[in-house]
Amino acid sequence: MEPQVRMRDALAFFLVVSLSLLRRSSFALSHHDLQIVHAERRIDLASHIIKVFLTLKVENTGTSIASEVLLSFPPNQVGNLAVLKASAVVGKRKKKAYLSLDVKPKLPDGPNGAKYFSISLLNPLSMGESVALEVLYILTHSLEPFPAEISQSDSQLVYYRDSAVILSPYHIKHQTTFIKTPSTKVESYTRLEPTNHAGIELKYGPYDEQPPYSFSPIIVHFENNHPFAVVEELVRRVEISHWGSLQVTDCYKLIHAGARHKGVFSRVEYQSRPSLSGVSSFKNLLARLPPRVHSVYYRDEIGNISSSHLRLDSKKSELEIEPRYPLFGGWKATFVIGYGLPLEDFVFESPDGRRYLNFTFGCPLIETVVDKLIIKVILPEGSKDPSFVAPFSLQQRLETSYSYLDVVGRTVVVLEKENVVPEHNLPFQVYYKFNPIFMLAEPLMLVIKLLEKFQSVLEQIRVIRQLT
Ligand SMILES: *[C@@H]1O[C@H](CO)[C@@H](O)[C@H](O)[C@H]1NC(C)=O
Ligand SMILES: *[C@@H]1O[C@H](CO)[C@@H](O)[C@H](O)[C@H]1NC(C)=O
Repeated sequence: MEPQVRMRDALAFFLVVSLSLLRRSSFALSHHDLQIVHAERRIDLASHIIKVFLTLKVENTGTSIASEVLLSFPPNQVGNLAVLKASAVVGKRKKKAYLSLDVKPKLPDGPNGAKYFSISLLNPLSMGESVALEVLYILTHSLEPFPAEISQSDSQLVYYRDSAVILSPYHIKHQTTFIKTPSTKVESYTRLEPTNHAGIELKYGPYDEQPPYSFSPIIVHFENNHPFAVVEELVRRVEISHWGSLQVTDCYKLIHAGARHKGVFSRVEYQSRPSLSGVSSFKNLLARLPPRVHSVYYRDEIGNISSSHLRLDSKKSELEIEPRYPLFGGWKATFVIGYGLPLEDFVFESPDGRRYLNFTFGCPLIETVVDKLIIKVILPEGSKDPSFVAPFSLQQRLETSYSYLDVVGRTVVVLEKENVVPEHNLPFQVYYKFNPIFMLAEPLMLVIKLLEKFQSVLEQIRVIRQLT
């Protein structure tokens, strides 16, 4: 009896193992069915927001149909990945068009913790067919200042780490990588022949016949004095009042995320030799606001800051702000920018009778990374059933806010996203149901509050009369 049981167990175990092996090998097989015939990668290190453009020609060399193409990233890059977009290139030359494709993370991870993203093809590839893909990805916090501390007059040098060859689950027949630096000042770079440096460009490759998961670490050490403006937290309050305008209040916690400033700061030296002293610092920032802004203010903990300039035209408004002191590495500034906007530019009625706000996501300050962005849309009193539509995934929760004239409080739609870059400045919508009867609530409360005031004044007069 016992040996039989053992036999059965062994058989079951064998079945499970062989099934899982089968599954694993079919997964691996689907990788090997594709190969990259040609790849070109362009890494732009001009600012502190790194943009990488990847052009791939992928061919199906297997017999089964392929409906997805995998991209893979080293685990340390994935945490800093702010944007990943892919499109298929159709047609040639003048008739070239780009069809945007769906990209999703895919589990399980690959060798050495490589993280996969799957691009869904619109037209699956059959045997022998190929597709041209364009991929854009953006990395933040990927330049390491070295030296980590510099003094006022020093230039900022940083390290960028990557691989000379593209990390991929597929065999790559032919590939080249171009790295663009902000200036010709490159201290050092890893060579992996053929490697070539000319002007502001480093060229790695061409490299031929690289097997799957090839990886050759490289380090580029170069000058980058671009403002490393990072908003650690931005809280944007967008308040809709059907009685007035749209009121926007942006609260910033800004940091210069470059090499830490060491030694004392000399304002005299800074002001007398601005081109030499403080090359790694920044003293003003540009905010792009919607057209037709009004009642713009800019203040910090101390009070209003007058050193701001507002330029208005029909398409946009530009606000140049200057914190009280220039920002060096590690220095922080906390400030608020507030403004009003015409309601009719941003709040509309949808065909089903609901109202909606159509506003731009992201940060108005140009070329900044926002570690955490919180948008609070404060709906008019009496709004119901809020929902939102956004071109990327967001975390959402609801809160209630009470202001002076509110009767029942207002619904606040809170939207949150981490690692936000300028590519996220896209329209989003918040829909809600609104009963116009509530428009009377505010003026009614105003009258009641006034009556209360009036009554207390009468009371006081009565008291004074009794005393005299
Ligand atoms: C700051 O500016 C705002 C808007 O211009 C104004 O309403 C407010 O009174 C000013 N505050 C101070 C303390 O100057
Ligand atoms: C939102 O506004 C943008 C322009 O800022 C416009 O292109 C888009 O169609 C609008 N979306 C909706 C749903 O109204």
